[in-house]
Amino acid sequence: MDVFVIEGGRKLSGSLRVNGSKNAALPLLAATLLTDQPVTLRDVPELSDIRNMLRLLGELGVEVERDGTSVKLQAVDETEVHARYDIVRTMRASICVLGPVLARRGSARVSMPGGCAIGQRPVDLHLRGLEALGATIELDGGDIIARVPKSGRLIGDTVFLGGPFGSTVLGTANVMSAATLAQGTTVIECAACEPEIVDLADMLNAMGAKISGAGSPRVTIEGVESLGGVDHTIIPDRIEAGTYMCAAAATGSTIELTNCPLDAMMSAVDRLEAVGVHIDPTDHPRGVTPDQPLRRTCTISAPDQLRPVQITTQPHPGFPTDLQAQFMAMMCLASGNSVITEKIFPERFLHVAELVRMGAQVHRHGTTAVISGVNGLTGAPVMASDLRASACLVIAGMAAQGTTIVNRVYHIDRGYEKLEERLSSIGASITRMTEDQLSEQGLASTGG
Ligand code: EPZ
Repeated sequence: MDVFVIEGGRKLSGSLRVNGSKNAALPLLAATLLTDQPVTLRDVPELSDIRNMLRLLGELGVEVERDGTSVKLQAVDETEVHARYDIVRTMRASICVLGPVLARRGSARVSMPGGCAIGQRPVDLHLRGLEALGATIELDGGDIIARVPKSGRLIGDTVFLGGPFGSTVLGTANVMSAATLAQGTTVIECAACEPEIVDLADMLNAMGAKISGAGSPRVTIEGVESLGGVDHTIIPDRIEAGTYMCAAAATGSTIELTNCPLDAMMSAVDRLEAVGVHIDPTDHPRGVTPDQPLRRTCTISAPDQLRPVQITTQPHPGFPTDLQAQFMAMMCLASGNSVITEKIFPERFLHVAELVRMGAQVHRHGTTAVISGVNGLTGAPVMASDLRASACLVIAGMAAQGTTIVNRVYHIDRGYEKLEERLSSIGASITRMTEDQLSEQGLASTGG
């Protein structure tokens, strides 16, 4: 397994382009199953999660041709309806093929995704939503088996998609996608409002769907007989952008971001500015409405001293849980006590123990962590546990004095394209090594 070797204490400077969003790309790719017409997706990031989704689509009869950052897809064999366990277990987001396959092909068999490092990850809301559209759902040998009614089509209806932690992003994607081909109209109440849902609705409408209200808690979908092809550019990745902003803040740097979805990250910008970070759009002066609010150019400047803040993660437009770990790395260096409350994934704190190994003072009390700022972090071997916890450790390693070795960087490759190259291009010292190369260098890699 590869590791990152990070020499900390270096300032960053330069410009990074924010890639297309992983969490938009996955349901968009799944939505290509709703038509037999050609679909082109642009600005598709080169990530292992994307490769897994393309492999799954190939098994479901979709011809896939990647051409640089564009991917051309067309369903040419619509007989297969089974998303097998060995793919779903490597990427639980495979669940988002359930709605499209069911609606287009009349039945679907998708392995029940397991849990992961950040929590149990249930899909009960997905199933409740599809049942509300007339689907019959059975569980057999760990597989979800879904069928449309005898009429051959799902039937539009009203469904409430709220659960104990708010709405569900991929559950909304599944039900919204399936409802585009249902007989009649569907109303989703308590839909996820994430920008990735808006991007999916935009693409589906360009394919001929009739969706209104995406981005609000109530989404209405008027079913149509079929959908056509589309050429669609994926929105930029707000979590990648926020990760870079935290990296600049934690290393006391000033960097530029291009293709930055500022309009989709107001809560993160609000908290960063409370920390003392300046985020200045340079493409349009303040007060002038930008022509592309999701594709901005901006400068991120860290203050001399980071201020402590309070953060509670919430569904969009609240503070995103996917930036919680990265923010925590930054707050380890603030001048006082910060508080993070995690309301989406209560177990999403595996990064805490690793930060403490680096000298951070973080105390977890249930779903809340108190971070007492320290003067500095010290490099150490640490263990990545999930995608965003890994990004947190990279940020901490860049801010720390000395050498940090981040183990199991396959987690990072799921959601960040060539992260070590991109951060090195703006001044970081990050090297990807195999464990053999590491031992040849005489560097301990055991992260405990
Ligand atoms: C999406 O996951 C994202 N993944 C996650 O990003 C993100 O953390 C999450 O939304 C929340 O914003 C993708 O888009 C591929 P949910 P999703 O269903 O849709 C509970 C990353 O780091 N719940 O919105 O699977 C669930 O347990 C990843 O990029 C139910 O109870 O998340 C959680 O507490 C990690 N029943 C909350 O709802 C359900 O049927 C939100 O989950 C579904 C979810």
